[in-house]
Amino acid sequence: MTTEIESILVENRVFPPPEDLVKQANVSGMEGYQALCDEARRDPDAFWARLANENLVWTKPFTQVLDESSKPFYKFYPDGQMNVSANCLDKHLGTPTENRTALIFEADDGKVTKVTYKELLARVSQFANALKAQGFKTGERAVIYLPMSIEAVVAMQACARLGIIHSVVFGGFSAKSIHERTVDVGATLIITADAQIRGGKTIALKSAVDEALAMGGCDAVRKVITYKRAGSDVQWDAKRDLWWHDVIQGQSTDCPPVAVDADHPLFILYTSGSTGKPKGVQHSSAGFLLWSLMTMKWTFDAKPTDVFWCTADVGWVTGHSYVTYGPLAAGVTQIVFEGVPTYPDAGRFWKMIQEHKVTIFYTAPTAIRSLTKASEADAKVHPKSFDLSSLRIIGSVGEPINPEAWVWYYNNVGNQRCPVIDTWWQTETGAHMITPLPGVTPLKPGSCTLPLPGIDAAIVDETGEEVERGKGGFLVIRRPWPSMIRTIWGDPERFKKTYFPEELKGYYLAGDGAQRDKDGYFWIMGRIDDVLNVSGHRLGTMEVESALVAHDMVAEAAVVGRPDDTTGEAVVAFVVLNGPLPQGDDAAAVAKQLRDWVAKEIGPIAKPREIRFGENLPKTRSGKIMRRLLRVVAKGEPITQDVSTLENPGILDQLSQVR
Ligand code: WT7
Repeated sequence: MTTEIESILVENRVFPPPEDLVKQANVSGMEGYQALCDEARRDPDAFWARLANENLVWTKPFTQVLDESSKPFYKFYPDGQMNVSANCLDKHLGTPTENRTALIFEADDGKVTKVTYKELLARVSQFANALKAQGFKTGERAVIYLPMSIEAVVAMQACARLGIIHSVVFGGFSAKSIHERTVDVGATLIITADAQIRGGKTIALKSAVDEALAMGGCDAVRKVITYKRAGSDVQWDAKRDLWWHDVIQGQSTDCPPVAVDADHPLFILYTSGSTGKPKGVQHSSAGFLLWSLMTMKWTFDAKPTDVFWCTADVGWVTGHSYVTYGPLAAGVTQIVFEGVPTYPDAGRFWKMIQEHKVTIFYTAPTAIRSLTKASEADAKVHPKSFDLSSLRIIGSVGEPINPEAWVWYYNNVGNQRCPVIDTWWQTETGAHMITPLPGVTPLKPGSCTLPLPGIDAAIVDETGEEVERGKGGFLVIRRPWPSMIRTIWGDPERFKKTYFPEELKGYYLAGDGAQRDKDGYFWIMGRIDDVLNVSGHRLGTMEVESALVAHDMVAEAAVVGRPDDTTGEAVVAFVVLNGPLPQGDDAAAVAKQLRDWVAKEIGPIAKPREIRFGENLPKTRSGKIMRRLLRVVAKGEPITQDVSTLENPGILDQLSQVR
């Protein structure tokens, strides 16, 4: 009882913004924030026009701001032209930024490589020239399957420079995922590495690409360019394969950026949905870059002197907006880290912050929770054992940060000086949507606080009516914004159905449940669909289920999430085998086989934490699997719900037995 009251008290604590930040932040004080909100509300088009004119370099200025003629397929700045790479690199030429460090790359083994803005531009241009020499053109699609590296940033920027649309596949994903995405985007080019090195281990990448291409249907792929990272053995197809170091040989370090339409797709990034295959979220060039840059300035208060570190991999949207694009457009120095937070020990992040004098640090709640545990066990890796005084802002992304983790982060990493910036957004939104601003917003642990200026967020019921404060509902965005998803690649119908359901008055449906408190603060309650959030990344239950049933032994499978202290949610699978119900050691062996199978089919992140076998699954009389009940079983809680509508209520007992 007492602990419950205490934890409620903690959640009600309010942390005002630090005085010094209020004074010198890019958005200063609540009045500064309100003024921007008012400007956006009064005349949204004028607001988006001003930001785009003041913050982007245009080769052809736009005369129209928002084209709503084929909504919900909105276009921003439809007649304007620009180039994203020029806006990240060329624009710094002739300014003091050109000789500043753009990237501090720290390898898994600790080796540090620094690249200035001028050098980065040269490397991007040289690689872009290599792509041109190989015949790749504006509008083609490139799959990028690279480890965290300078080359990953170079490859993405080089594509942007030529208007080649990239689709980055996370290095932890399997050959099957590469195959699916390569086919779906119709890639003509794949850029990969021989291997990646993480936590002291070498993990092959090129061989996964080979395997994906051998699955068939990828005939459009003309070349695979491989960056030699580890010096591992690779198989070679002389007609198709090229080394990175060979293709750049003799290429000029000067490559004029290709001006593209503002809405030219910059990238396609796949994300899980509740049904069907992952969705290819298509982003624009100008709108996406504008909001990545504005949020660098507003949310992170970025100044040219900052050392920024977003720990996300370029395989996720966070690594697009806050590694490859936003930070470079903002002209900060940033860290790119190859390794993992726990190698050589769990003090790695803190040691790196200390050594590189990081000022803005952005990571995920799952990392915070696992490092909390590690530092409770070993004082040597505790953040208090390091000098983190360079930090001024610390951020969080990917899932709700629970108040305990928030307060630990605030006390131990931020030393009670740095605001914790809990940013709510999604792959589809391109950049931050609801977030505190460091020099503005009083913080409440567990709340992502208030929408950014121009972002019309609301909580509505199933008819689109706004609900009362304190009541839960669907989180929607009522007006279009520049960095919004443009469509699902190759599936405009699914785009409309998923994000703009008719009942909701044309609002963008985020798929999260949320509520607002009396101060208007947003509290995200979690997904409204069957999507799990494991370590800050979305996983469709459907994808894991398809992988399971693709195995010869499996007849049927249902997957649910169970709350987990470290990863947020853990995957629990209920499986019906083709043969008899396995028992004891046999069950354990089959479970292991299936877990490894899922890791191979999708990637280790999707590996079920637990597999339970049954002779059947709980179903309604119409044959629908009752996941609601499975969620209760997965938590190990007794079933108190009405089960009278079940076809086979007895099955719950069988599934509840812990094996
Ligand atoms: C989903 C989006 C945002 C980039 C990384 C994940 C959850 C994300 C928060 C937050 C509460 C959050 C939501 C959202 N989420 N950030 N600060 N507080 N929930 O991108 O894979 O597209 O997932 O992550 O459920 O819809 P994503």
